[in-house]
Amino acid sequence: MTVSQATQTGPDLHGTVSMKKIAQECRTLSVEKLQSGTLILRFIVPDYSQNVLTSESLTDLSTVLDAIDAAPPPTGLIVASGRENSFFAGADMKRVAGLKSLPREEIERLCDTGRALFHRLFSHPWPTVAVIDGVCLGGGLELALSCDFRVATDSPHTCLGFPEVKLGLLPGWGGTVRLPRLIGVGPAVELIASGESVRAETARQLGLVDAMVPAKTAIESACTLIESSQNLQSHLRRRDTLSSPVAMDPDERGFLEATTAAVILGRTGGHYPAPLSVLRTVVEGSTLPFDQAAALESSSFATLAHSPESMQLIRLFQLGERNRTHSGLNDGRTSKPREIKAPAVIGAGIMGTGIAARHLRSGFSVTLVDSQAESLANGVGGLIHEAAWNRAKKAVDTDRAMELAGKLQTSTRLDVISECDLVIESVVERTDVKKAVLAEIEAVVDENTVIATNTSTNPIQKLAEVLNEPSRFCGIHFFNPVRRMMLVEVVRGPVTSDETVMTAVAHAKKLGKCPVVVKDSPGFLVNRILMPYLHEAVELLREGVSMQRIDRVARDFGMPLGPIELYDMIGLDTAFYAGLVMASAFGDRIDASPVIPALVKSERLGQKTGEGFYRYKKNRDGNSRMSQIELPCPEIPSMLEPYALKPTNPSQSTLIDRLIIPMLLEAIRVLDEEIVQDGRDVDLAVIHALGFPAFRGGILAWGDSIGAKEIVQRLKPLSHLGPRMVPPERLVEMAKKNNTFVSEN
Ligand code: NAI
Repeated sequence: MTVSQATQTGPDLHGTVSMKKIAQECRTLSVEKLQSGTLILRFIVPDYSQNVLTSESLTDLSTVLDAIDAAPPPTGLIVASGRENSFFAGADMKRVAGLKSLPREEIERLCDTGRALFHRLFSHPWPTVAVIDGVCLGGGLELALSCDFRVATDSPHTCLGFPEVKLGLLPGWGGTVRLPRLIGVGPAVELIASGESVRAETARQLGLVDAMVPAKTAIESACTLIESSQNLQSHLRRRDTLSSPVAMDPDERGFLEATTAAVILGRTGGHYPAPLSVLRTVVEGSTLPFDQAAALESSSFATLAHSPESMQLIRLFQLGERNRTHSGLNDGRTSKPREIKAPAVIGAGIMGTGIAARHLRSGFSVTLVDSQAESLANGVGGLIHEAAWNRAKKAVDTDRAMELAGKLQTSTRLDVISECDLVIESVVERTDVKKAVLAEIEAVVDENTVIATNTSTNPIQKLAEVLNEPSRFCGIHFFNPVRRMMLVEVVRGPVTSDETVMTAVAHAKKLGKCPVVVKDSPGFLVNRILMPYLHEAVELLREGVSMQRIDRVARDFGMPLGPIELYDMIGLDTAFYAGLVMASAFGDRIDASPVIPALVKSERLGQKTGEGFYRYKKNRDGNSRMSQIELPCPEIPSMLEPYALKPTNPSQSTLIDRLIIPMLLEAIRVLDEEIVQDGRDVDLAVIHALGFPAFRGGILAWGDSIGAKEIVQRLKPLSHLGPRMVPPERLVEMAKKNNTFVSEN
């Protein structure tokens, strides 16, 4: 019997409440009754691109469950989505963002109410099944977990997970209670504390879903499950098990707690409270009766919802959403972005290979050109490796690598790009070389081709001097490492056309990046803010502070790398050229340090040559180097000697102030000069380009957490360092008025 044959076409659901009446009352779901007596609830939440758990959809669920309770019982209930590839993407973010302003008791009450609503799916004599097609995340997974069984479709879009930790939260509608009882405590902690989602096949192996089937047979499979469960009453036995505490040996529990806490602390540096709270709540909750575990979940959720880390992470999520829908043009202007089909990258160095790999990963065929055959030969292996990296398996997918290799064309000749519609120049950071390459590119491509540069510091206007048609030219500035850093600066030159800007923005989004449009000026946005940090680190080195201490302090603050390690990663030659540009523009506060040219002269260029400030471990082949530090280069102290400054021994907090406050001061100047249209882009940019700690919310949010008044105070003892520690007028005004940056935007 197929489902379509079994569908009842009659108007009445049963007795007192008609299907028509429910359909009229509920905008977000429909009810269908099968001949077998099983009901199917199908959610389609209007006004959202994906199903999300809005207040309305929860009220509708409650209304329908009331109607079912008031009528003769069905044989079973299937909870599904009426939308392809979207079961439920989670809770409505507007509601989540509003939690911080609610009192703790109210937050707990909201958790209890949502959980109790879902629990109704688990409390009737008849079985319930969730049919999961597409994304099933957060509250959506809690809804599915409240059903007796879960059938997932084998669609590549089907994924299940709890992303709440990424917002500094944990699941609050029963997820921490139900999951360990279903799949075991260890796997539950891993899934919830990582925030990662799993595909249907992995979910099946974990026991998170009972079956994985093609989408077209999913309802039929759910019906079969209901029928067999009715016969065997297996759902009732399962409920007993899932309502009881998990039996756990105390040694096993102790081991799990200790090892998982160590892993979490390693991953988070102790800066994010949510994963540790997940560990405590899941482990302790799994040993308690269901109701007590539920109360513990509500309490943990409320604590996290009021944590500053969660508030910042939720704000960051909202900034990302705003960016996702922004076209790149302001003041109501609009244009049509061009669709890029044939991209090319010029320069097969650190950045060019990363950019080409990103294109392959995003489904593009790409052409890569370098004047040096050796650069291509050195770069291509790593490029394919990166493009075919399987994150879940933590290994290269060899079949995919073969497939992607076929989509990469390499050459030492520029004429191969004549058919390309976007060319991204990423050769060495030398103005003369870049100008020559850009002129060559324009000579071979079509008049409509968008030409972009990945320059870190060269003004677009200056590079555009060699082009006949500069309106199709802009910066598309990626960050290192391209695979990890989400930000792309789209640099608008004075004559760059709206169409070019929108095309660059739309293309960056296709690459999964977060593009921010910035004004053409030295260092653009991010390097402008980064340079004072790097510069200050070298000044501290010259004052005799060890490089390991400087890097450790920055890492403890939450930066992914210390500034000295970062120099080595960027490449000392690139940093040198960038430093020259910055010094000529902002020489009053950032002079070109003599230390960097000294390192470049001695051919210590950082990770790419195996030595910079640090020496890097050799690979197994004994020749190439890895990014793992072996030791600080022993020659550095003697190289620093000629440039030594009066020795100092700053405290930990002074070190942080000296490294981070100059970034804030530069961010303020960036706002004054309207380098970006909106200050929110500054916070988004430093997090996605520099790895500025997300839990601090960005450099401006960090400034707010200290307070303008306090920052001005902290600058006073640093005033001997000169103009670079002088508070800009805007900060002084803010200190007087007690204003905050975030409220300004
Ligand atoms: P790199 O030194 O690793 O690679 C440069 C490549 O350009 C080399 O393979 C070289 O052979 C090639 N090249 C030089 N002249 C050429 C020509 N005439 N035609 C074709 N290829 C030529 O440099 P990296 O680090 O990849 O930097 C490239 C660009 O990306 C620079 O503009 C840099 O400022 C920018 N950038 C660098 C970042 C970093 O962290 N290294 C971050 C963001 C941007």
